Parts: sequence; structure tokens; C-alpha cells
Amino acid sequence: MVLHGTLNNYIDDNKKIVHDELKNQLHHLPIPKRLKESMLYSVEAGGKRLRPILLIASNEAYAGDSQKVLTTAVALEMIHTYSLIHDDLPAMDNDDYRRGKPTNHIMFDEATAILAGDALLTYSFDIISNDSLLADNQKVELIKMLSHSSGPKGMVAGQFLDMEAEDKVVSIEELEEIHDLKTGQLLKFAVTAGALIGNATSDQLKHLNAFAYYLGLIFQVQDDILDVTGDQNKLGKPIGSDEVNKKSTYPKLLGTDGALEQKEIYVSKAKSALKEANADKSYLMMLTDYFSKRDH
Ligand code: IPE
Ligand code: IPE
Ligand code: MG
Ligand code: MG
Ligand code: MG
Repeated sequence: MVLHGTLNNYIDDNKKIVHDELKNQLHHLPIPKRLKESMLYSVEAGGKRLRPILLIASNEAYAGDSQKVLTTAVALEMIHTYSLIHDDLPAMDNDDYRRGKPTNHIMFDEATAILAGDALLTYSFDIISNDSLLADNQKVELIKMLSHSSGPKGMVAGQFLDMEAEDKVVSIEELEEIHDLKTGQLLKFAVTAGALIGNATSDQLKHLNAFAYYLGLIFQVQDDILDVTGDQNKLGKPIGSDEVNKKSTYPKLLGTDGALEQKEIYVSKAKSALKEANADKSYLMMLTDYFSKRDH
């Protein structure tokens, strides 16, 4: 595909499209008022919307029709938002600031935050199953992939291992596994779902899987670095949370410079995989640098 406009314009335009569709999917819901307020609070708090944007960019890299992937992109953002609401709970990272606002359990209460997360998780599958733009076999495949990426073989496993690794020294290989699961799996869904709906070949999908693996590591190394060196006002979430929770992170294992070097290795591997997938002329290429250099 041909690149049009700058990456910043591309991100801003798609952010708006995703935000409007999230509202569209949630505002009309005939559900208990406070539950809806709590779900909307975290969804509308903002966020970079990188996963849906990645899904749209991956679709466009092949036979793109962003209208066709919009519901799936929004479903993914709902799951991501649920994971953040639960990640911030006192029983998990115990953070009180997210997306520049008090966390859901601070604004509402713990029970409401847990249920708002549960609701966003389950409703994501509901909206894919009701998407009139997709064929039934596509919906089944997407639901299969999304439940795999977000469940006990994916993000949930990563969150669990991350918790178990508190207070321990883990190897770089163990850290890669944790990061691939807790962060990489949802990014893998974004990249492969977009390409699948865009009719990418199985060989291209294989290379995109490798790309998404490195992209997940890049994303989380940068998240770990920002937790040490970032600016809370730009990040919209507290810095130093990993230190307080004695988390296993790249800067802890390799030092900040070592983490930066490791990130560059992942960037070059991600870009080679993208080339193999014939997607190096797409926004995925620019998004790789954006993921690596982001300051929030
Ligand atoms: C934060 O994700 C959680 C991680 C996987 C590290 P983002 O940095 O994408 O958070 P938002 O969506 O922009 O708030
Ligand atoms: C959480 O990772 C990733 C999720 C699956 C939610 P972190 O705990 O590092 O995310 P932040 O730093 O709180 O956003
Ligand atoms: Mg966490
Ligand atoms: Mg956290
Ligand atoms: Mg973090």
C-alpha cells in the first residue's frame, strides 16, 4: 500500500475513528447505570489505542478495508481496557492513576471495577459475533484467536507469571516469555487478525507472527524503561510502580543501557520479519519505531 500523510496524522485519525466506534458500541447498552458509567469511564479515559490502530494498519498492509475490521479492533481495545482495570486493582499492581485519571476502583469501588472489567471482556466477544460485515467462519476464527490471546494460554498466563516473578531473579528467556504472554499476545492478535481479514497468505501470517513477537517485546521493554525514566504527566500512570512491586523487568535485569541495547536487537528482528511478510512498506514499519521510541 502507499503511505499517505505522516504517522502522527494516521494515529490521530484512527484514534478518533476507534473512539467514536467504542462510544457507539457502549452508549446505547441497556445495562445497569453505574456498571455502564464504570465501563465508559475507563474506555473514554483515552489511551493511545495502539492495538486497534495496529490491527487497522495490518489490514491495510494487505487487502485493506478498515470498515470491515473496525468492530474487531474495538473489541480488542475493550479487552485491553479490561486488562488494565484489573491490573491496577489493589490485589494486583495497586495503582491509583491510569490514562491520566484516577483508576477505576478509586473512582468507583473495587467490586464495580472488577465487574466493569468482566463486562468489557465478555462484551467484546458479543460484538464480534454480531458483526454484520463479517462472514460466520471469519467470526469463529477471530473469536478463537482472541480468546486464545487473552486467556490462560495468553495474556492471563503472562499476568500470572509476572505476579509469580515478583521478588525473584528471572533469566532473560523467562522475562521474554512473560512479556510475550502478558503484552505480546494481544499485539499478535492485532497484527494477525488484521492481516487475516485482509487475506494475507499463510506464509505472510507466519512472518507476521514473528514480527508481532518482537513488537511485543519492544513494547514491554519500553514500558519497563518508562516506568523508571518516564514522566508521569506524559505517561498518565505512575512511574516507579515496578520497583515498589518488585517486578522482574528489563532495566532490573540488564540496567537501563542494557535494556536499550536489547530493544534495538528486537527492533531489527521485527523489521526483518516485516520484510519477509511483504509489509515493510506499510504503516506497520513506522509503528515499530513509534513503539520503540514512545514517551507515553
Ligand atoms: C499498557 O498499555 C499496558 C501494557 C501492556 C504495558 P498501553 O501503554 O498501550 O496503555 P494505553 O492503552 O495507552 O493506556
Ligand atoms: C500489564 O503490564 C500488562 C497487562 C496485561 C495489563 P504492566 O503492569 O507493566 O502495565 P502498566 O505499566 O501498569 O500499564
Ligand atoms: Mg502489571
Ligand atoms: Mg501495572
Ligand atoms: Mg508497566
